[in-house]
Amino acid sequence: MSEGIPNLAELERIVSEAQSRFSAASTIDELRSAKTAHLGESSEIALANRGIAALPREDRKDAGQAIGAARAAITAAFAAREAQVEVAEIEARLVSEAVDMTLPVTMHPVGALHPLTALFYDMCDVFIAMGWEVAEGPEAEAEWLNFDALNFTPEHPARFLSDTLFLDPIQDRRILRTHTSPVQMRTLLTRELPVYIVVPGKVYRADEYDATHLPVFHQLEGLAVDKGLGMADLKGTLDHLAKAMFGADTRTRLRPHYFPFTEPSAEIDIACFVCHGESVGNPARPCRTCRSEGWIEWGGCGVVNPRVLAAAGIDTDVYSGFAFGMGVDRTVMFRNNASDLRDFAEGDQRFARQLMGVAR
Ligand code: PHE
Repeated sequence: MSEGIPNLAELERIVSEAQSRFSAASTIDELRSAKTAHLGESSEIALANRGIAALPREDRKDAGQAIGAARAAITAAFAAREAQVEVAEIEARLVSEAVDMTLPVTMHPVGALHPLTALFYDMCDVFIAMGWEVAEGPEAEAEWLNFDALNFTPEHPARFLSDTLFLDPIQDRRILRTHTSPVQMRTLLTRELPVYIVVPGKVYRADEYDATHLPVFHQLEGLAVDKGLGMADLKGTLDHLAKAMFGADTRTRLRPHYFPFTEPSAEIDIACFVCHGESVGNPARPCRTCRSEGWIEWGGCGVVNPRVLAAAGIDTDVYSGFAFGMGVDRTVMFRNNASDLRDFAEGDQRFARQLMGVAR
């Protein structure tokens, strides 16, 4: 062989150097740089291959065969080692990424809805299923929307400072809303007719703080205004709500009452679902839930006073409506068998856990 072309002994060395370099490589990266060195463009074997063309014609065949065989040996050595290193890398990764499923973990308690929030959701769902919408209004409300727009006279006793919490400065005539009914007027002034809305929310009155009264409590208001609505629609709607909340055999009754913004007005009672009326006139079996009266006061309701609709610019010859507002805190007390309203306000987690079965 002529100058620049390796002889057989040199080819053997070239092959064995490549083989030992490949077997020494233990990662894919190392193997790759070994490949460049021993099979790449400027490797000895590549140079030898390129040298063949310069040989005298009669030498080319032998040299070509020898160099080709050497190159094949190097390529095979590389492929064999590559397979080994890949398997080893996968195995190493499986070991390093293994998760020990038996390690103990720290359990964090998951939160839960406050019983009141959960009840609001349930009540609103009953109405959403009938196509009603949920509306809201501010807790700091204009006295006008809370009272005047709802047909309360200027001297109505509910406005007195002893019942209503006024916000400073008093000449702004802003109060903490005493009921969710101002959202009736807000809705009539902003939404297109017909209107079917429920309003969950907090209300405020200057009440004592005791087992059955909170100065902040919760109401669910409802308002429907459409063509031809009346008392029968109101009764049907409230019956449906009562059955959905307290069971299919729940009965309701309406008692005549007075509210300035409904006419006629009524209070709605639900038949006591604890004693089912059996405690009435039966001192041997008193009922704490209904105080042996057989009925539980639930809320106020009535046909919307046309004056309220007129104040919102609605044609009372065409449209009429009904409205209702119930206390929700007492409903939670009945539903969850809680005896002291103060528990709802004090945020003691043991109370919520007990009611909601919260995981620890
Ligand atoms: N807002 C009334 C209350 O707080 C309840 C009510 C609402 C009555 C809607 C009639 C219509 O007592």
